Amino acid sequence: MRLQKKTVLITGAGSGIGRSTAHLFAQEGALVIVNDIMEANGQETVNQIQADGGQAVFMKADVTSPGDMKAMAAKAVERFGAIDVLFNNAGISNVGQLHEVDPDVWDKVMNVNVKGVYLTSKYVLPYMMERKQGTIINMSSCAAEMGLQARALYSATKGAILALTKAMQVDYAPYNIRVNALLPGTIFTPFVENYLKTSYDNPDEAIANIKKRQLSGDLGKPEDVAKAALFLASDESSFMMGSPLYIDGGVVFGKNA
Ligand SMILES: NC(=O)c1ccc[n+]([C@@H]2O[C@H](COP(=O)([O-])OP(=O)(O)OC[C@H]3O[C@@H](n4cnc5c(N)ncnc54)[C@H](O)[C@@H]3O)[C@@H](O)[C@H]2O)c1
Repeated sequence: MRLQKKTVLITGAGSGIGRSTAHLFAQEGALVIVNDIMEANGQETVNQIQADGGQAVFMKADVTSPGDMKAMAAKAVERFGAIDVLFNNAGISNVGQLHEVDPDVWDKVMNVNVKGVYLTSKYVLPYMMERKQGTIINMSSCAAEMGLQARALYSATKGAILALTKAMQVDYAPYNIRVNALLPGTIFTPFVENYLKTSYDNPDEAIANIKKRQLSGDLGKPEDVAKAALFLASDESSFMMGSPLYIDGGVVFGKNA
C-alpha cells in the first residue's frame, strides 16, 4: 500500500499506460482521479477499478483547454482536499518526416503533448505549493533521446517535456515538490496499434523492426511503465529529482549489433 491516503490525478487514463497506472495506483491504496477526453473509456477505467474494490472517479477534461484544466484542479481539491501526485500522461502520436507534417498537425500534437503538460501543471502546482508537498511525473519518451525515423514532431514534443521536467524541478524543489520524467521505449498500447496500422504499409514488418531494436526482443507492456510510475509516485524515489527514468528494453543505451 505505497500510495495509501494519496490522491492521484492521471491525465489520459482512459487507455493504455494511463489506465494500467490507474489500476496499479488504486491497488496501492490511492484515490485515483481518472482524466480523459474520451468519456466512455475513462468511465470504463473507473468501473474496472471500482469492481476490484479500488477508489476512482472520472473527470472529463481536455488537457489543451485552460478552462478545463483550471476547473479540474479546483474540483479535485474541493472534493478530495489535495492532489498529492500528478501524472501528466495524456499524449498523441505522429508519424512522418518533417517536410510531410502539416502545420495544423504540428500545432495539434504540440498542443496535446506539450501545452497539455504545461496547463495541467500550471493549475495543479499552486495547490501543491500551498501544502509544500507533491510529486509530478511527466510522460516523455525514448524518442526524446534518440533519432528515430519519421518521428520528428513526436520526438520534439517529448524532448520539450524532458527539458520542462528539469526546469520545473529547479523551480519547485523549494516547495518540496519532485518532478521526474518517464522515458518508455515502445509499449504495446492502442496508441502504438493505431499508428502502426495507419502509418505503415506493412504493420507486421514495422512491428518486427521495433522488436529488433529493443534488446528485450519484444515490445513493453503498459504494466512495465505503470510500475516505474509507481516508484516515482511513492516515497521510495524521494531522492530522485528532475530525472529521466528509462523503461525501454535497452533501446537507448544498448545496441544489438
Ligand atoms: N505506447 C508507447 O510506446 C509509448 C512510448 C513512449 C511514450 N508514450 C507516451 O505515453 C502516453 C500514453 O500513451 P499510450 O500508449 O498509453 O496511449 P493511448 O492512446 O493508449 O492513451 C492515451 C490517452 O490520452 C487521451 N488523450 C488524448 N488527448 C487528450 C486530451 N487532449 N485530453 C485528455 N486526454 C487525452 C486519449 O483519449 C487516450 O485515452 C503518451 O503521452 C505517449 O506519448 C507511449
